[in-house]
Amino acid sequence: SGQGRLCPAEDILDAVDQGLGPVDSKLKGRRVLITCGPTREWIDPVLFISNPSSGKMGFALAQEAMARGAEVTIVRGPTDLRPPWGAQVVPVETTREMLDAVLAAYDGCDVLIGAAAPVDFTPAAPAQQKIKKFGGSASLELVGTPDILTSVSSLKGSRIHVGFAAESENLEANAQAKLAAKALDLICANDITAPGSGFGADTNEIAMYSRDGLTRHVDMTGKREVAIEILDEVETLLSTEAVSPQG
Ligand code: C5P
Repeated sequence: SGQGRLCPAEDILDAVDQGLGPVDSKLKGRRVLITCGPTREWIDPVLFISNPSSGKMGFALAQEAMARGAEVTIVRGPTDLRPPWGAQVVPVETTREMLDAVLAAYDGCDVLIGAAAPVDFTPAAPAQQKIKKFGGSASLELVGTPDILTSVSSLKGSRIHVGFAAESENLEANAQAKLAAKALDLICANDITAPGSGFGADTNEIAMYSRDGLTRHVDMTGKREVAIEILDEVETLLSTEAVSPQG
């Protein structure tokens, strides 16, 4: 803003990238809701439980969906990464807040992609004041947080739901079990022990499974290229499941 002031070069690049996307995408005019990044569960006012998720995969999906003409809402946990220009961004901190933000944006969406790594448990009684240093040991009681994809599964209707499964063993069996448990249309499984597919990496290698089994394997490549393959698969699902835009 301000006379003669140019917006940041990264935003201009994002806008150009979005302007150069395909004109005939099935995602054109669709509303895509993407969860990204980690969440934080507070133990006391200074300590929290979290994980090193960067949000890079979700942001790459958002940028690619916008290049295909989709309207994108990103619900993102704490990350220093700059979200792509043009997306509606809803910042949240805890898993409960992420679920509430997803529920608030869910009505109008056609596609939900759960690319976040929400923390699965939270302290049962977070301390109101900073916990003082102590000798010896102590234990922390934890309670489960809601699973976002499972929580909206009964509201799904004709929407397409996509999830991720980060696994260290039995990739296919574990991914298929999550696909069924969370009532997903597509799950993107990756082996977190493989070099280059861990948290925060710029690359990923995934196998995608639908209810019919393996649909596509994407060899190690950049997250934007992985996003292209995932959204190609979403477009196939949109044409086979004949989703009508949500009103
Ligand atoms: O069961 P697991 O956490 O491995 O499943 C991963 C998938 O579930 C991801 O798509 C992730 O975004 C989603 N998830 C969720 N709510 C949680 C935990 C995971 O939606 N509390």
